[in-house]
Amino acid sequence: MLPKAVFDLADGGAENEWTLRRNESAFDDITLLPKPLDGAADRDQSLTLLGHQLATPVMIGPTGLSGLFWPDGERCAARAAASAGAGFCLSHASVCTLEDLAEVPIAPRFMQLFIFTDRGFTRELAERAASAGYHGLVLTIDNQFPGNRERDLRNGFTIPPRLGPAQVAGLAMKPGWLWRMRNALSGIGFGNYVRDGVKIDLASREMHVADLFDPGMNWKDVEDLRGIWKGPLILKGVLHPDEARMAAENGVDAVIVSNHGGRQLDGAASAIEALPGVAAAVDGRVPVLIDGGLRRGVDVVRALILGATACLIGRPQLWGLSVAGEAGVGRILEIYRSEIDRVMGLCGVTRLADLGPDLLLKRPSN
Ligand SMILES: Cc1cc2nc3c(=O)[nH]c(=O)nc-3n(C[C@H](O)[C@H](O)[C@H](O)COP(=O)(O)O)c2cc1C
Repeated sequence: MLPKAVFDLADGGAENEWTLRRNESAFDDITLLPKPLDGAADRDQSLTLLGHQLATPVMIGPTGLSGLFWPDGERCAARAAASAGAGFCLSHASVCTLEDLAEVPIAPRFMQLFIFTDRGFTRELAERAASAGYHGLVLTIDNQFPGNRERDLRNGFTIPPRLGPAQVAGLAMKPGWLWRMRNALSGIGFGNYVRDGVKIDLASREMHVADLFDPGMNWKDVEDLRGIWKGPLILKGVLHPDEARMAAENGVDAVIVSNHGGRQLDGAASAIEALPGVAAAVDGRVPVLIDGGLRRGVDVVRALILGATACLIGRPQLWGLSVAGEAGVGRILEIYRSEIDRVMGLCGVTRLADLGPDLLLKRPSN
């Protein structure tokens, strides 16, 4: 369905992909103890997040270049999320601009950015997000070096791309994708990086990814951003309880437990294993969100039991997008919604607030 290079761009992770695999497999160790006789005839999976009413605890997370999977991919996914009553976060590396995405009526609509080496660009994106009415700013902190994604290197899917004959042939062998993308391909680039009318496309020599990010970023940068952006500020990529505690104490409004879907530090803890420590550290002061490896409604329920308020999905929405655009993402969200509903019913739970640790099998510690 997708050319190998495009599939691997989403499916792959960093180096040995240990963290990528662990994100999913760690859910296997979380066993539920249902209480069917608690009675759960009517179930409600709605919640309030940072002042917004959501119909479901599953949001669309930021994924760069979604427009490579389906024409106008970002807006298709946002429209699907709006119909499902789910939230949406736009990536800094979206194909459309953040202003284009703001045309989709959806709340909450978050904008993701980094502490760029060029701090002026961080400020510019935050100010543009404010002008375009975004409801939250997501600062991703685990991307201070480009991840060592060896599948992308092998495929020549670097920026600028280094496509050999085999890779070009690989693109041509997916005529369905090529046909669908025929009008969109020439416009694929980084919409938010257009400056002075100069477009930054995938082949652009001006895009030096390694120079974009600053490994020297620190809490002072978070403080500075806090001063620029008045709305909810959300840290994404928090795994360590100390950082979660610092965030809660320094004006951050929510944290996302994440290892970037295993695309950055291979060897990092899985998100679900890091979640209880983060939840304990923030101790209810700010909402804790999570992404990484949530493939079923039961994984969402497990995460909520362990202290998450809501979850984000990355790859699953890209697969939905790749199959059927907006309808595909809608279908993915509907699968999560119906599975969460069934799992709640089977556990004997009517409200998300009642998903507590009493529903977990406790293993004897050794
Ligand atoms: C193709 C792709 C692009 C991504 N781009 C970004 C990005 O631009 N910014 C960001 O913070 N996270 C990005 N992520 C990470 C996701 O937001 C999320 O943390 C991760 O995909 C969650 O894991 P999951 O795919 O297992 O659901 C990207 C992930 C993928 C698969």
